[in-house]
Amino acid sequence: RVAMAQDGTQIGFTPISASSADSVVVPEGYSWNTFLRWGDPIIKGTPGLTTDYSNLTVEQQEGAFGYNNDFVAFVPATRGGTESDEGLLVVNHEYTQGELMFASYDPDNPTEVQVNIEIAAHGASVVEVYREGGAMYYRRGGALNRRITGTTPMTMTGPAAGHAKLRTSTDPSGTEVMGTFNNCAGGKTPWGTILTAEENFNQYFGLPDGAAAPAEDDPVRVDHDRYGVAYEASGRKWERFVDRFDLSKEPNEPYRHGWIVEIDPYDPDFVPRKHTALGRFKHEGAETTVAPDGRLVAYLGDDERFDYLYKYVSNGTYSPDNTLEENMALLDDGTLYVATFSDDQTGQWIPLVHGQNGLTAENGFADQGDVLIRARAAGDTVGATPMDRPEDVQPDPNRPGYVYVACTNNTRRTEEVGVNAANPRLDNQWGHVIELVEAGNDVGATTFSWDFLLLCGDPEDDSTFFGGYDKSQVSPISAPDNLAFTPSGDLLVATDGQPGGLELNDAFHWVPLTGSERGHVQQFLSVPVGAEACGPEFTPDGQTLFCAVQHPGDGGTLAAPISQFPDPGRGARPAMISIWKTGGGVVGS
Ligand code: FEO
Ligand code: CA
Ligand code: CA
Ligand code: CA
Repeated sequence: RVAMAQDGTQIGFTPISASSADSVVVPEGYSWNTFLRWGDPIIKGTPGLTTDYSNLTVEQQEGAFGYNNDFVAFVPATRGGTESDEGLLVVNHEYTQGELMFASYDPDNPTEVQVNIEIAAHGASVVEVYREGGAMYYRRGGALNRRITGTTPMTMTGPAAGHAKLRTSTDPSGTEVMGTFNNCAGGKTPWGTILTAEENFNQYFGLPDGAAAPAEDDPVRVDHDRYGVAYEASGRKWERFVDRFDLSKEPNEPYRHGWIVEIDPYDPDFVPRKHTALGRFKHEGAETTVAPDGRLVAYLGDDERFDYLYKYVSNGTYSPDNTLEENMALLDDGTLYVATFSDDQTGQWIPLVHGQNGLTAENGFADQGDVLIRARAAGDTVGATPMDRPEDVQPDPNRPGYVYVACTNNTRRTEEVGVNAANPRLDNQWGHVIELVEAGNDVGATTFSWDFLLLCGDPEDDSTFFGGYDKSQVSPISAPDNLAFTPSGDLLVATDGQPGGLELNDAFHWVPLTGSERGHVQQFLSVPVGAEACGPEFTPDGQTLFCAVQHPGDGGTLAAPISQFPDPGRGARPAMISIWKTGGGVVGS
């Protein structure tokens, strides 16, 4: 059959069949390579990882590519440039899996060295990359290469910086924080920096054995409950070794996580900024765009069952002529909104501003900093619409005001909880994608209309919907997560959880959005056993597509692996791959 792209041209690939194989699968006529793996040395002087990982140390990990690559951003070699053959790749490292990293690992009793290696394997990497013969490679020891880890000093900026709740015994200023954890997706800014999103930060905090928990109505505990921070031993046990993860010693430390972090990849000395104006929740990502009047807009999902969709609109306006400092400050002064979806397929962005909409001292919100630190509670107060885990939220670069919202799944949407217009399925195991259209096609608007693009799943299931397309002609799809736009203007949907929903490996799916091809889901890529398909990201010329193969072999251990990706005989390792059209050309053309 003939596959069509957004722009009406024929898509230049034959969709692949869904796969359960322990390998990357791409369409005929496409090639791929693995070019960067967990443990590969980035910083000059760092040794490579031995085949049995026995030389993995804190020092090795601090100079090497981290674990569980998730968000991927390619920026051209020069700031504001358009190069595709040379650039910087920024990749974040969501979380670690000791059972796949260490030959000898007892999850109930990790060693202090293992904990410190895992802390060093979190964060992000900035890596110089270059393209040769279609394939991408990384430059070991590149001058701009950088590791950002769980101990990298960062600055809190914006309205909540310095807030009493952000102060700890080691940082009485409430502005200096160490490290970033559980970074999921992210975004690029128009000024060439990277935003990365702190997601399930709650899992890092706990009470050591024997330490007493505060009363259940303790205000700090109440705040932490809303974010899933539990007063019990954590799964990771870091609180045994590092005071800031011990809730009995540093009860405020969790307030310093759950933010959007900005990194300047062109400046290896840049101190990353946690921008409090964008609110605190389990941030999935932060894709930005510019409103017609010049204001900077960031779309933000809170990836939790029954949590909310947000957007941020700056007060000042973006200009390429602004200084870098002026543009970065746009993320410190603006309005955070939360979404309500109505039955008539309209919706509203409700401002989370202290003193408005019930966000008052009488209702327990001390000030604007408190509103942002407890953004979820603010959303509860204003009556935001509980969603089925909002993941990536992607504005269409070609059609102003069109925005795509991936709701990955929600198996706890039971009869008792009920559905709402924007989350219409009970036991939503497959997820859906909402198409939101801002009023007047203005991303700065405070009202919108919306419709479904996809109700995902097995096309033979009656509850599914593929934008109106013939369901006998589409690829099965489940658990939409990361979103990106293709060079042809179509939506690329990456999945996180197809093995659970459809017993198929995770994938990239190509999805035209308009005309007679709307909803024609066509699978482009499949990742190995246990892996999640992350990224996706294209070079500016569209000739390279990046995929972050996250947690291959998930469910196995290093001693008993269920995947050997990417290097047979070495267990599974998270890795970066590049994909290109064999012989050259724009991917998908
Ligand atoms: Fe880390 Fe929301 O996926
Ligand atoms: Ca994700
Ligand atoms: Ca995205
Ligand atoms: Ca996910």
